[in-house]
Amino acid sequence: MMIGHFKDPALKAEGQKLIEWADASMPVLGAIRKEWQKTKPLNGIRIGACLHVTTETANLMRTLKEGGASVALCASNPLSTQDPVAAALNMVYEIPTYAIRGEDDTVYYQHINKVLDLQPQITMDDGADLVNTLHSKRQDLIEGIVGGTEETTTGVIRLKAMEKQGVLEYPIVAVNDALTKHMFDNRYGTGQSTIDGIIRATNHLICGSNFVVAGYGWCGRGLAMRARGAGANVIVTEIDHLKALEASMDGFTVLPMAEAAPIGDIFVTVTGNCKVIDQKHFELMKDGAVVCNSGHFDIEINLSALAELAKAKYEPRRNVTEYILNDGRKIRILAEGRLVNLSAAEGHPAMVMDMSFANQALAAEYMITRAKDLQKAVYAVPQEIDQKIARLKLESKKIKIDTLTKEQQHYLESYDIGT
Ligand code: ADE
Repeated sequence: MMIGHFKDPALKAEGQKLIEWADASMPVLGAIRKEWQKTKPLNGIRIGACLHVTTETANLMRTLKEGGASVALCASNPLSTQDPVAAALNMVYEIPTYAIRGEDDTVYYQHINKVLDLQPQITMDDGADLVNTLHSKRQDLIEGIVGGTEETTTGVIRLKAMEKQGVLEYPIVAVNDALTKHMFDNRYGTGQSTIDGIIRATNHLICGSNFVVAGYGWCGRGLAMRARGAGANVIVTEIDHLKALEASMDGFTVLPMAEAAPIGDIFVTVTGNCKVIDQKHFELMKDGAVVCNSGHFDIEINLSALAELAKAKYEPRRNVTEYILNDGRKIRILAEGRLVNLSAAEGHPAMVMDMSFANQALAAEYMITRAKDLQKAVYAVPQEIDQKIARLKLESKKIKIDTLTKEQQHYLESYDIGT
């Protein structure tokens, strides 16, 4: 049995219970797994995955294995690993998993390289670090690759940039761009899990606070919606006119960050860009301001600028670092500026990851069957997969919908029936 690198074998029973608990809320992925027990569409295929090592990811890995693939997994973020899950994946499900919560950058990349040592034919990424390492340091492996899948907005942006610059060496399916992914995972998943992370880290009261959401993409929309639901006064900051207008018409206050900085109590970045909260903003913030990030990389908050303004640093609670500034103000950073929802809480709930990971599984199957027809480019998930996942999810929730009559179908296909 090949074994990965993880924290503690004694955690395996706890991990298995948590994985099974999540599985009970993942009916679509479960249905795919059941079907794949018979059909084995991934027979003999080697899959290298770099994803957040959570209970939900474990169920995706089990599904790929059930489909006949040999799978190895590493973390896509140094702070998001659930150590009991990594133990169970290795020891119960016999899926080599390289992930330890809190690993440093050196170990993080050692783990990525361990997964690449499997010589994957399919890469499955969340943020494109696996693809990037393969293209920059392990080019010898490119020849054996059939294709890849990408989970998140940030990864898709990186991969599209690679495609544009002509350096992408194999086709990728952008799982993030499926409607059954970003409309639910990015919006409702990030919305809930980010609030969950902030509350677990701080135990602060959300109602009555000035809650600043930087970025009004799908994640920002969901977060603003849930913060409002929890009773906060929500302020949105944006750089895009359309999104700012949408936020305003959704009823949120829209301000530049420099104007939000002095009034915010809680700040969350979900933009995918760097230095969204910078030195000039820290200089304006209130004493006790809480600042965190739910975007993929830890670049949205300029922590080195904050460190320069600070005379001391202190950890009052797990996942909270208090920077004491020269003028005496305290700024509280959660989860070192890394994804607060995965570092301080458990990431998106299984009920929503069910659809994201059903997309991953079906995108891998699609890649295996269709890669020969694909170019070195980033592809959308086929609409039939999106529709199938939506249908299965509705069925699992016992929600029925109407169907078009023949007359209605005809009406939709005609143009001559007007007033
Ligand atoms: N991304 C956000 N939430 C996640 C989860 N629970 N598992 C894996 N990846 C995630």
